[in-house]
This record gives sequence, C-alpha cells and structure tokens, in this order.
Amino acid sequence: MPPHCQLSIDIAVEECREIRDLGIGGIILFGLPESKDEEASGAYDDQGIVQRAIRAIKRHLPDLLIVTDVCNCEYTSHGHCGKVVNGEVDNDATLEWLAAGALSHAWAGADIVAPSDMMDGRVGAIRQKLDANGFANIPILAYSAKFASVFYGPFREAADSAPQFGDRRSYQMDPANGREAMREIELDLEEGADMIMVKPAMPYLDLIRQARDRFDVPISAYQVSGEYSMIMAAAQNGWIDEERAMVESLTSIKRAGADFILTYFAKPMARLLG
Ligand code: PBG
Ligand code: ZN
Repeated sequence: MPPHCQLSIDIAVEECREIRDLGIGGIILFGLPESKDEEASGAYDDQGIVQRAIRAIKRHLPDLLIVTDVCNCEYTSHGHCGKVVNGEVDNDATLEWLAAGALSHAWAGADIVAPSDMMDGRVGAIRQKLDANGFANIPILAYSAKFASVFYGPFREAADSAPQFGDRRSYQMDPANGREAMREIELDLEEGADMIMVKPAMPYLDLIRQARDRFDVPISAYQVSGEYSMIMAAAQNGWIDEERAMVESLTSIKRAGADFILTYFAKPMARLLG
C-alpha cells in the first residue's frame, strides 16, 4: 500500500512526531509480531510489538492520542480473528484473548482500545476486564458495524493477516443486512461501548447516516485499505485527480454523519487543511 509501510518502533516514533506536527487528532496502531502461533500470543504479550510501541510513543509524545486495534488475526498462524477449535472460530474462547489484549494495551499507556474482531460479547468482556484492573477511564471504540468486505484486501496483504482457510463471514457482517448493523451497534452500546464505528465507509454511507440519526454517541467511519487503494490506483493511471478524489471521498463520509474518520489519507488531508 505505497507509500505506507511496516515500521520499526524507532521509525514509528518519528512518524508520530510528524503526525503530531501536522495537527492530526491521533493514531491507531496495528502490530506485526516476529512470529505467529495458534494462541495469538503476541496479541496480549506485555512485551509485544504494539505494547512496546505504545510505551515508546508515549515516552516521546505524551500528548498524542493512541488508539489500539484489538484483534488477533495479525498474531494467529491461521490468520483468523479468534481461537480456532475443531476447524471453526470459537467466539467465547476468543473473548479471553481480547480482554487480555485490551488490558495489555491500557497497561502500556493506550488512550482508547478499539476491538475489531466482531466476536459477540467482546465489548462487555473488555469493559469488565479494564474496570477490574483500574482502567475504568479507558474508553472503548467498538468496530460495531464491520462488514465482511472485499475492501480489506490490501490491508491483509500489508499486515500478512489473510485467513489461511475459510473466510470471516461467520463473525463479520453480511453487506446486504443494514438492520443487523443497527442491532450490533445497539448491543455494543449496551455492553459499554463509548464510541462506535462503521467500516468500510464509502460503500456504507447510508448506515453512517442511520447510526448518526439513531445513536447519540461519537460515530467514526473507517475508510479502509481498498477504498484508499482504488483511488490511488486510478490516480496513478491518470484516470482521476488524486487530491480531489481524496477530498470528495472524505467529505462524503463527514456529510453522512461521521464525527471522526480513520483514513490512510490522514497526512495529505491534514497538509491540505493546514
Ligand atoms: C483486523 C482488522 C482488519 C482491518 C482493520 N482491522 C482486517 C480484517 O478484518 O480482515 C482492515 C483495515 C483496512 O482494510 O484498512 N481485524
Ligand atoms: Zn482480526
């Protein structure tokens, strides 16, 4: 996903300095462990890559907001977001990993934890774990309406996290089912989510708007890797103007009702706004 790359911790700190200086509101961290295993050990290891990165970034840039993606697919050898039992992802067995992962991030100094796994009950499990360990003040940004989307392709290649068998349709949502999205948001809020997300963004603008009209909480939208890469590829071929496509796509997401946006265009957009 040029010009985005995997970063070592020291380079990530420099990248964050640039991001802070551009006035960007915060960052979200995704980790790539040195090795993957069946138990996703790197996801909840106090010395894991994300946990160490949080400490380093906080040490140098204490005021930069750090959100962490809480999931297991970058850490499992099979690439699924949860624990595989008898060839299937076991929802309830995964909750323990997720709660432990979120706690390890909070412990390292993360400001917000963002579960992206889509297991049922994860927000409640994470909330309980954080509260029991003195982190009642750490908010949860729930990827509540996350669809089983083809638009995650470039991310999975970049993060080496594509499932080795099957797909994610047993836990991510059916793109045709907008009503279920509203129900998932409602359930996450009941379990204690402080903010919610719709993901991807542009193919789901209707749901951002519906969520905005129904729920009085901060709503985010994630303009995912495939949305970004389509614009970049078209621009590189001379078919569309990159800057105008960036602005128009982000404007549509704001217009639909997102309070904040996760986007791979953060730096060029901030430069333009600045
Ligand atoms: C991990 C996760 C994914 C993305 C964010 N968190 C991949 C997936 O669900 O397969 C995708 C982000 C993007 O495409 O930019 N669960
Ligand atoms: Zn995942």
